[in-house]
Amino acid sequence: MNWNASARLGLVVLASMFLASAACAQVERNSLAQTPPMGWNSWNKFACNVSEDLIKSVADAMATNGMKNAGYQYVVIDDCWQVGRDEDGFIVADPQHFPSGIKALADYVHSKGLKFGLYSDAGAKTCAGRVGSQGHEYQDAMQYARWGVDYLKYDWCSTFTRNAEEAYSTMSNALLATGRPIVFSMCEWGTAKPWLWGKGIGNLWRTTGDISDVWSSKKKWPDGSCCQMGMVDIVDLQVGLESFAGPGHWNDPDMLEVGNGGMTNTEYRAHFSLWALLAAPLIAGNDVRSMAPEIKEILTNKEVIAVNQDKMGREGRRVAKNDDVEVWAKEMSDGSRAVILFNRGASESEVAVTWEAIGYPSHLPAKVRDLWEHKDVGSFTGSYLAKVGSHAVVMVRIAP
Ligand code: GLA
Repeated sequence: MNWNASARLGLVVLASMFLASAACAQVERNSLAQTPPMGWNSWNKFACNVSEDLIKSVADAMATNGMKNAGYQYVVIDDCWQVGRDEDGFIVADPQHFPSGIKALADYVHSKGLKFGLYSDAGAKTCAGRVGSQGHEYQDAMQYARWGVDYLKYDWCSTFTRNAEEAYSTMSNALLATGRPIVFSMCEWGTAKPWLWGKGIGNLWRTTGDISDVWSSKKKWPDGSCCQMGMVDIVDLQVGLESFAGPGHWNDPDMLEVGNGGMTNTEYRAHFSLWALLAAPLIAGNDVRSMAPEIKEILTNKEVIAVNQDKMGREGRRVAKNDDVEVWAKEMSDGSRAVILFNRGASESEVAVTWEAIGYPSHLPAKVRDLWEHKDVGSFTGSYLAKVGSHAVVMVRIAP
C-alpha cells in the first residue's frame, strides 16, 4: 500500500470513528427512563404544603412500606420549595420549610436508596407564582446537579408566547451539560403536542391538563387557558397517542390520585390498571405514610406494575369500544397481551375480548391470568369474557 492509499484508509477509519462516536453520543444523550419512571410527587396531596420533614418522612415510609420494593424510586418535590434568587442569581429554597437545604435533603433521600426530584417552570414564574427558570436555565441545572437532583419536572406557567420546543430544549441541554443523569419531565399539558417533538428532549411529557381526584369532570382554569379533568376524561385523550411512546420517552397522563379519597377503591383500581397499561409514569400522589391496606395493595400490585414496566415499552391502546364498555390491550415483550376489560357504566356488564382484537388467530388456545385476583383463570380459545362491575376493570394477561 502506498502512502496515499494508507493515508486515505487512515482518514476513512478516523471519519468512521468520529461518526460512530457522534451516533453514540446521540443515543446516550439521555438514556434514562428505559421503562416508565416510578415514584412519588408532593402536588396531588400536599400542594404548597411542602417541607423537608414531609419529604423525609415520605422517603422513610417508601423505603419500608413496600413501595420501594415494588419499584417506586423518585421522591419529587413539586411547586413551592423555592422562594427567590440570591444576589448571584442562584435559586434559593424556602429557609423556613427547608432549613437544612436541598443538598442535605437529597442526601437523605439517597441514603434511603431512593432518588430525588425537584420542580421548576419554563416561565419567569411557576404555576404557584414562585420563581421560575426562564433566563437561568443553565445556572439552575448546575445547581440541581450540585445538590444531587435526579429528576426535574418542568412546568409551563407564565410562558406567554414562548415556543415550547425551544424552551424545553434549552433546559434539556442545560441538564445534559451538567453531566449528571437527570430524568426530564416536561409538563406542558399537551398544548403544543409534545409527543410530536419531545423524544430526545424529555423523558416524559404531559399529554393533558391536570388530573383531579374524581371519576369524571372537565373544568377550565380561572384564566381559561387549560383545564382540570377527571380520570376517565384524561384516559379518553390518550387514544391515538400510543405510537409516540417508547423506552426513554413516555406519554404522561399526569400523576396518580390513588388513595386521595375522591374516588372509590374500585375506581382507583381502574385508574391504576389503565395507567399501567398506558405505560404511563407511575408517580403516586397520596400520603404514602398512612395508606389504608387496600390502597397499598393497589399501588404495589406487582403483576400490574410488571405490565407497566415491560422492557419492550409498548404503550397499550383501546382496541374495542361499545358505549360504556371498552377493551384495552398492551403487547408485552414475551408475546403475551395485557388486557383491561373496562366498564364505565353505572351497572355491571359482561365484557369480552376477542383474540382478533389483540392480534391473535381465533383458533389459538391461550392461558388467561387475572392480575387483581392473582389467579390463573384457565385456557380459552378465540375470546375471553368476564362480568365487570360498574366503574371497574378486570385486568388479565393472555398468553398463547
Ligand atoms: C401545574 C402542573 C401541576 C402542578 C402545579 C404546581 O398545574 O400541571 O402538575 O405541578 O402546576 O403549581
